[in-house]
Amino acid sequence: MNVVCIGAGYVGSVTGTAFAAIGHQTTIIDIDQKKIERMNRGESPIYEPGMEQFLPALIGRNLFVTSSYDAVAEAQVVFIAVGTPSQEDGTADLRYIKLAAEHIGRALSKERFTVIVNKSTVPVGTSELVASLVEEASGLVADKDFTVVSNPEFLREGYALEDVFFPDRIVVGTVQPQGLQVMRELYHNLIERVGYDQLSELFPFSYHPQMPKATYFETDAKSAELIKYAANAFLAVKISYINEMARLCEVLGGNVRDIAEGMGLDTRIGKKFLQVSSGWSGSCFPKDTAELLATSQKYGSEMTVVKAAIESNERMHLHVVEKVVRKLQSLNGKRIGILGLTFKPDTDDARKTQASYIIQKLVELGASVRVHDPQGMAMFQSLNSHLKVTYCREPLETGTRSDAVILLTHWQEYQELDWEAMYPVMRRPYVLDTRNYLESARLTALGFCYEGLGLSTISPSVAGDGVMGG
Ligand code: UDX
Repeated sequence: MNVVCIGAGYVGSVTGTAFAAIGHQTTIIDIDQKKIERMNRGESPIYEPGMEQFLPALIGRNLFVTSSYDAVAEAQVVFIAVGTPSQEDGTADLRYIKLAAEHIGRALSKERFTVIVNKSTVPVGTSELVASLVEEASGLVADKDFTVVSNPEFLREGYALEDVFFPDRIVVGTVQPQGLQVMRELYHNLIERVGYDQLSELFPFSYHPQMPKATYFETDAKSAELIKYAANAFLAVKISYINEMARLCEVLGGNVRDIAEGMGLDTRIGKKFLQVSSGWSGSCFPKDTAELLATSQKYGSEMTVVKAAIESNERMHLHVVEKVVRKLQSLNGKRIGILGLTFKPDTDDARKTQASYIIQKLVELGASVRVHDPQGMAMFQSLNSHLKVTYCREPLETGTRSDAVILLTHWQEYQELDWEAMYPVMRRPYVLDTRNYLESARLTALGFCYEGLGLSTISPSVAGDGVMGG
């Protein structure tokens, strides 16, 4: 098939690459000339494992990247995969969606039926909005000359290629017969894994033909639009829930790691997304929960569970700061090292990360902060130029004469860190591990005062009166 993908951002570049890989003639359209040149050189516009293998294999063969909308006239399917950032009131900014719809409308062929697919995360009713904008720009009639389908993405950063080639589910929102037929054809090779044996050498993960197949789920456009928000908000609620449980454990005793495991053994609950953290963040959960809450409020049907999860998440960021204060008392003149600035490991994405909130508070309380991240420092620095912190080339440097080192993101590099070398450089060897990720017994044996979140089984040096060695 002939496929066009508007937007070479996170979703567009990965989705376009995947459709080219499964055999469709694919054109990615973007306005950013630098991004276009990068991709045409076979380089990924984003940090995502596997993209650097796929792009050189596809570019110029059946994957093309350009700023011209000409390919729209030949396309059977046109994806819209542009950004929908949050506005002040929490609702999604649809400016880029509207622009894309107008451009598509102007370029659309009158000779053929085109399926326009919303891949971006968009509020309920956006399919109708796109349809009317395309009608206006093209003079064509929706559901006669073209149709708009909702097909939300469920890509996790860092695992986007795995998620795109091996999704749990593909949600297709349309009741229009041609739309249904074209979408089934589009996804056929992906669901049946046609050509996967050859592709498997490019996968950044191991491929087993017995891996479960995706469920292809058809519904109406509004339900599809809502599924994306409902799923992300539910996952956010799940994390907030276990994080609150961690806080409760710190008061009552009990070990949140065991509680998560015990809960997760109930297949109705499942063990995923019960990993404690200083709070969920990133470019999706904060934006999607804010949009769902704002829309539900606007229409008089407030989702109080989502509201509570957002509040609880902010409380969790603060909880980390409070724990440090409890340990070090006044932060005036204290030095604090931060390991991890991205919202999770294996990404360079430092947008909307809990690190900026936590660091800001630490600085406000008088601490001087030294930070490290394997991939996210450049983005963090450009987004947080107001924060006066020291950027360290090596993770060990965060510990130099520090009174505390806080692990915020569970990069494997930090688990493999030479903690023995960290110990003597710190002023007080206090480690706060907000992901319960490090080898606590080893750190304690090395003499560190180790604290996790919601762990009652803490090292004796922590359980004492706060007097620390070093
Ligand atoms: C998410 C959804 O998972 C994906 O389906 C959707 O399409 C986009 O949004 P992503 O934002 O890449 O993906 O990250 P995800 O792995 O879901 O993590 C989100 C946040 O929750 C991160 O800050 C992560 O560290 C945190 N998290 C996740 C926890 O704190 N605990 C967990 O158990 C899981």
